[in-house]
Amino acid sequence: MNEETKKITELIRKAVEKARKETSSEPEPGLTKKKLDWPIECTVGPGLEGAIACESSIGYVNGSKGWLIYSGYDIFDLSINSTYEEVSYLLLYGRLPTKKELKAYKDQLIKFRDLPLTMRTLMGFPVEDMNPMAALRLGTEFLRQKVSHRDRNINNADILNIIGSDEDSIPMETLPCGEEHAIYEPKLKKDKLIMEKYILDEAIGYRACHRLIAGLPTIAAAISRIREGKLPIAPHPSLSHAANFLYMMNGVQPTEEEERIMDINLILHADHGMNASTFASMVVASTLSDIYFSIGAGIGALNGTLHGGANERVLQMLEKIGHPDKVEKWYKEAVQKKEKIMGFGHRVYKSLDPRARILAPLAKHLCSRNSQSRQLFQIADKLEKVVVSTLGKEKKIFPNVDYYSGLVYKAMGIRTEMFTPIFAVSRVAGWTARVMEYLQHNRIFRPRAMYIGDFNKKYKPISTRKESCK
Ligand SMILES: CC(C)(COP(=O)(O)OP(=O)(O)OC[C@H]1O[C@@H](n2cnc3c(N)ncnc32)[C@H](O)[C@@H]1OP(=O)(O)O)[C@@H](O)C(=O)NCCC(=O)NCCS
Repeated sequence: MNEETKKITELIRKAVEKARKETSSEPEPGLTKKKLDWPIECTVGPGLEGAIACESSIGYVNGSKGWLIYSGYDIFDLSINSTYEEVSYLLLYGRLPTKKELKAYKDQLIKFRDLPLTMRTLMGFPVEDMNPMAALRLGTEFLRQKVSHRDRNINNADILNIIGSDEDSIPMETLPCGEEHAIYEPKLKKDKLIMEKYILDEAIGYRACHRLIAGLPTIAAAISRIREGKLPIAPHPSLSHAANFLYMMNGVQPTEEEERIMDINLILHADHGMNASTFASMVVASTLSDIYFSIGAGIGALNGTLHGGANERVLQMLEKIGHPDKVEKWYKEAVQKKEKIMGFGHRVYKSLDPRARILAPLAKHLCSRNSQSRQLFQIADKLEKVVVSTLGKEKKIFPNVDYYSGLVYKAMGIRTEMFTPIFAVSRVAGWTARVMEYLQHNRIFRPRAMYIGDFNKKYKPISTRKESCK
C-alpha cells in the first residue's frame, strides 16, 4: 500500500472512530426479530413506509442510529478492510469467502467482464445520444442469455443452439488501445454435456448474478467512452473489479489510490435494505420473470432523482450555487419555493447516513487538490451546516450517500452523467443478492390500493359527452 492509499485508509479510520463515538450499534428490536410469523401487523404509511415485505439476512439499516450492516458485518469495517469482490460475494452467499472461493469467484467475474456480443448489439444503438441510464438498462437487457430460468421451461429447447449472448467476440480496442487489435474470430460452440450443465447453472441463477455483477461495469464504461466519441476498451484481466472499471472508462490504468477510492465507493453503495430499486428488482423477480429483467427494473428505479439520480443533481446544485458566499441566499430561496435539497433526507435514516460519514472526508481530501473542486467542496460543506442547523433540527434531515459521492467522482475526473450508472454498477450486488434470497421463498408481490373512486356511473356514448372547457 503506498502513502496516498494509506492516507485514504487513515481518513476512513478517523471517520469511523468519530461515528462509533456518536452512534450506538444497538439493533432495533422491532426490525431485527429472528423469524416472522406471517401474517404480521405493522403500521404502513404512504409509499409503503413502515411495511415489512419479507425477511432477509442480507443487510440491515438502522436509521435512528445511522448504522449499516451487510450480512452481519459493519459497513465501516468492510470499507476499511475489504474489496468489492469480497463484499459482493458476502452479499450473495451470506459469508466471507475463503481464499480459494474468492479466487474462483474473481476468476469468474474476470471471465464475465468480456461482453463481445452485448457490446456489438449495444453499439448498433445511438448510445451517444441516449441517457446513460437508459443505455445501461438496454445493455443489461442485451446481456440476457438465451437460456434463463424462464426459457428453460420452453419445450424442446435446442441446447446445442443455446449459447450465452457473449460466447462470440467483436472488435473492441485491446491493450494498449489500438484499433488494429480488433478481434472477430468466433469461438467454438461447447459440447452438449457442458451446455446441459451450463443451462442448469443459469437456471439456478448465481451464475447469472455473476454475469450481471461483472457485466454492468463493462457496459457502463463502454457507454461513458462512446459518449466521449471513443471506442470501448476490452477489460483487463489482471486488474481488480474497481481498477478494471476505471481502466475501461478512462483508457489508462488507475493509480493505487484511485483504485482504492473506487473500491470503497463500490462497497458503500452495494446494498441498502429494501430501497426503491431493490424492491423494483424483487417485484419483477417475484413474477418468475428472470434476473436480467429484474436488474433492468432496478436500473430504471435507481435513475430517479429521489433515489440514485440524486448524486448528479447534487453536483448540478452545487455548481449552480457557484460560491460559498451564495449558499445562504440560495438556501433561503429554495426553502421559500419548498424545493427539496438534493442529497439530504432519507426514508430510513433520521441521523447522519454512515456512508456520508465516510464519503465526506474523502471528498474533502480529494477536492483539496484543485481550486475548482475545492470551492465546490466548500459550498457543500457550508450548505450541509445550514441544512443540518435548520432541517436537521426540525425534521431530522441530514446528508445522505448521494451528497458527497458526486464530489468524490468529480475530483477523480469522472463526468457527472456517469454518477448514477456507477451507483448501479455497485448496487447490482445488492439487487441480485436480494432477488436470489427472495426467490427461495417466493411469493408474488401484490399489494392493494384503497379504491376512492365512484360506483354506479352510467356509461355515456361518446356522442353525448360534453367537451370540458379549460
Ligand atoms: C429521500 C427522500 C425521497 C425520502 O422521502 P420521504 O421518506 O418520502 O420523505 P418526505 O419527502 O415525505 O419528507 C418528509 C419531510 O421532510 C422534508 N424533506 C425531506 N427531504 C428533504 C430535502 N431533501 N429537502 C428539504 N426537505 C426535505 C419534506 O418536505 C417533508 O416535509 P413535511 O413533512 O413538512 O412535508 C427525500 O428525503 C428526498 O426527496 N430527498 C432529496 C433527494 C435525495 O437526496 N435522494 C437520495 C436519497 S438516498
